[in-house]
Amino acid sequence: MAKKPPFIAGNWKMHKTIPETIDLTTAIIKASKDLAEAEIVLAPPFTALSEASRIIGGSAVRLAAQNLHWEDKGAFTGEVSAPMLKDAGCRYVIIGHSERRQYFEETDAGVNRKIKAALQSSVFPIVCIGESLAERENRETMVVVSRQLEGGLQGIAGGGFEPIIVAYEPVWAIGTGKTATPAQAEEVHAHIRQELARRYGNEPAECAIILYGGSVKPANAFALLSERNIDGFLVGGASLEAESFIQIVREAIRAYKEKK
Ligand code: PGA
Repeated sequence: MAKKPPFIAGNWKMHKTIPETIDLTTAIIKASKDLAEAEIVLAPPFTALSEASRIIGGSAVRLAAQNLHWEDKGAFTGEVSAPMLKDAGCRYVIIGHSERRQYFEETDAGVNRKIKAALQSSVFPIVCIGESLAERENRETMVVVSRQLEGGLQGIAGGGFEPIIVAYEPVWAIGTGKTATPAQAEEVHAHIRQELARRYGNEPAECAIILYGGSVKPANAFALLSERNIDGFLVGGASLEAESFIQIVREAIRAYKEKK
């Protein structure tokens, strides 16, 4: 499988004011000059997107949003559309994060509509999937992940959907300090790639970027990224400080360089 530069996205969730965004983005851009081998992506809250975009300017750092609505415009109070994200400077959008599924009743069908809307506006989706603790304990992990992929990708042809970016985020590992072991994560990542190959063919599946998320920190980034099918990370808590986020990027690059 062709080696892919590590893809490291920071999901800031509901954190950071505009001044805080300016500070964190500036610090990351400064450090990123030595980290050109990685694709670094920042996902601040909606209110800070355009300011982050201004600071990112022509640098190699990319901007992502954390959610979107599937319609382009209309009477949907409180929602933000794909053309608006594009306008604010977003290259990527996170879709179907487990917190959205858990607290905002997001379903696979809704995820599917959002992916289609993002692609329509040339904003690349980062599609999140992952099992709960109960599902893992019942040995349903692969079934759940397959079902989420099947529902989320329904009717989406391969051609317009490249690169395919999927984030495997076991719900029990998000914000809990419990990380999946590299072997646990690799097993699911390999399964996801197989599912993508079945749906889109071998080459698009090999090119797909499969991220791991769930308590990623500098101390576990190297071992996780050393696994064959782990191409990068979606980082929550540790992305809120420049130092820990940059350290994760460094560890990922180190693992990437040693990868066969
Ligand atoms: P965490 O969050 O790194 O704080 O566990 C990951 C995520 O929810 O994307």
